[in-house]
Amino acid sequence: MTATALPASAPVAVIGAGTMGAGIAQVAASAGHGVLLHDAVPGAAAAGRDGIGRGLARLVDKGRLSAADREALLGRITVVERLADLAPARLVVEAIVEKLEVKQQVFRALEDLCGAEVILATNTSSLSITAIGAALARPQRLVGMHFFNPAPVMALVEVISGVATDPAVADCIHATAGAWGKTPVRARSTPGFIVNRVARPFYAEGLRVLQEGAADPATIDAVMRQGGGFRMGPFELMDLIGHDVNYAVTSSVFAACYGDARFLPSLVQKELVDAGWLGRKSGRGFYDHRDAAAAPLAATADAAPPPARVTVSGDSPLLPLIAARGLAHDRADGPGGVEVDGVLLLPSDGRTATEVSASLGDRPVVVHDLAGDWLTAGRTAVARADQTPAAALAPAVGLLQALGLEVSVIDDVPGLIVTRTVAMLANEAADAVLQGVAAAADIDTAMTLGVNYPRGPLAWAEGIGLGRVHTILENLFTTYREDRYRPSALLRRKVLGGGRFHA
Ligand SMILES: NC(=O)c1ccc[n+]([C@@H]2O[C@H](COP(=O)([O-])OP(=O)(O)OC[C@H]3O[C@@H](n4cnc5c(N)ncnc54)[C@H](O)[C@@H]3O)[C@@H](O)[C@H]2O)c1
Repeated sequence: MTATALPASAPVAVIGAGTMGAGIAQVAASAGHGVLLHDAVPGAAAAGRDGIGRGLARLVDKGRLSAADREALLGRITVVERLADLAPARLVVEAIVEKLEVKQQVFRALEDLCGAEVILATNTSSLSITAIGAALARPQRLVGMHFFNPAPVMALVEVISGVATDPAVADCIHATAGAWGKTPVRARSTPGFIVNRVARPFYAEGLRVLQEGAADPATIDAVMRQGGGFRMGPFELMDLIGHDVNYAVTSSVFAACYGDARFLPSLVQKELVDAGWLGRKSGRGFYDHRDAAAAPLAATADAAPPPARVTVSGDSPLLPLIAARGLAHDRADGPGGVEVDGVLLLPSDGRTATEVSASLGDRPVVVHDLAGDWLTAGRTAVARADQTPAAALAPAVGLLQALGLEVSVIDDVPGLIVTRTVAMLANEAADAVLQGVAAAADIDTAMTLGVNYPRGPLAWAEGIGLGRVHTILENLFTTYREDRYRPSALLRRKVLGGGRFHA
C-alpha cells in the first residue's frame, strides 16, 4: 500500500507552541511546508518560534546547517494569534495541554474553521484517539501523530488510528511522517499506544527489584547499562523524565486497563511523588542531583582470584566469551552453565538461585544475569543460593572478572535484573501483537527508536530463544503467583507451534 504524503506545498498548522509543538513546527518546516504556529497564550507562539531560531542557530554554529537554510526554514514558520488564521491548513497537528475536553473543544472549532478535507492530528501521549474523535462531526479525519521529545531529533512517530479513523487518513499521515524524515509505525488507539505501554516493565521491574531490597538504584542502573546494553538505567531515566510524569503514565495505563496487574504502579515511586522528589527538575529523585560529587557507586565486587580450571557444560551463554578471552576450559554435558571450584554458575532462568540449588540437591549455585551482548558487556549481576556458602561467590566472581566483567553481587531475587526486565518487555510486546495494537516489526522499531532500546524486545526474545523467555516468565509467575507475570498466550503459542514474531 503506497499512500501519498501531504505535498510540501500544503500548509500545515501546529497548535500549541510548547516543547512538542515548537519541535513539530520545526520538523514540518524542515520538510518544506509553510507552517502556521498558534498558541492560546499571547506571545507563546512567537516565543516558540524564537526558540526554534535559537536551536537552529546552534546547528549553524556547529556547521550542521547553513545560515541561509536557517533563514529559509524560519521564514516558513508564521506565528498566528487567532485560531481562525489556521483555516488554510490542510493538516493541523495539535500539541496543547493533555486534557480530553480541551482537545475536543479545539478540534471542534477547527472542524468549523477548516475545509472538510483537513486532516486533524493529535500528539496526545495518553488520551484515546477514539474518545477525542467522539466529539467531532468528522472523526474519520482525526488521527494520532505521536512524536517523541525532542521532536526534531527523535526519529519515531506513532500513527494511531481510533475506531472511526479513515484508514486513508492514517496512511497519508504515515507517508507524511516518512516524508518528514521520520520512521512511522502504526498503532491502534489503546492505552499507552506502543512505546508507553511496552516500556512499562522497564521501570516496573527495576522498581520491583529495589522494593524487594535486592539492589540499590545505582547498581540496577549500572547492570542495565553495562550488562543489558541500555543507554540509561531505569532509575536515572525516571529521574530524567520526572516521577510525576512517569508515575502518571503508569497510573493512566493501569486505570485504562481496568487495573490489570501487569501495569500496577509502584509504591516506591509514589513515595517520591508524594515527597515532591520528582527527579532532576526538583533536584532530587532516586538520586541527589544537587551534588554531582555525591553520586552513589554501583555495588562492585572486589577482585577475586582467577579460576584455575573451569568446566563448561551444555550451551552456557558465557561460552562464546570464554572462547573469545582464550580461557582454558573443559567441556561436559549438563545444564548450560560453568562449573568453577565446585560451584555451578548458571544463567538466571527466572527462578531464585535458592530454588535452583534446591532442585539440584542443594549443590552450591550462583546465578548470573542476561547480557545484551556478552562480548561487549562490562558488568553482570550475580546472586548466590541461600544454602550456598558466601565463600562460594569468590570462584564465580573471579571467573567473571577474568572474562573482563565487573560483577555486582545482589540478593537472590528471581530473574535478577536484565533477565526479568527483558523477558517482561518481550511479554508485553507479545501481548500487544496478540491484541492487535501493532505488528511485531513496528513494535520492535518503536522500542529501538522511541526509547533507544539496544534491540527490539521481540527480536531480542528470539535471540535468547522464545522457549527460554517463556520459561523465565513461567518461573517468575510461579514464584510470585501474581498476574503481572502471566506469560502472554501468544508467546506460549509461538513456543508450542515453533513460530516466530519475525519472519
Ligand atoms: N513533553 C513530552 O515529552 C511529550 C511527548 C509526546 C507527546 N506529548 C504531548 O504533547 C502535548 C503537548 O505537550 P508539551 O510537553 O509540548 O506541553 P507544553 O506545556 O510544553 O506546551 C503546551 C502548549 O499548549 C498551549 N495551549 C494549552 N491549551 C491550549 C489551547 N486550548 N489552544 C492553544 N494552545 C494551548 C500552552 O500555552 C503551551 O504553550 C500533550 O498532549 C502531551 O501529552 C508530550
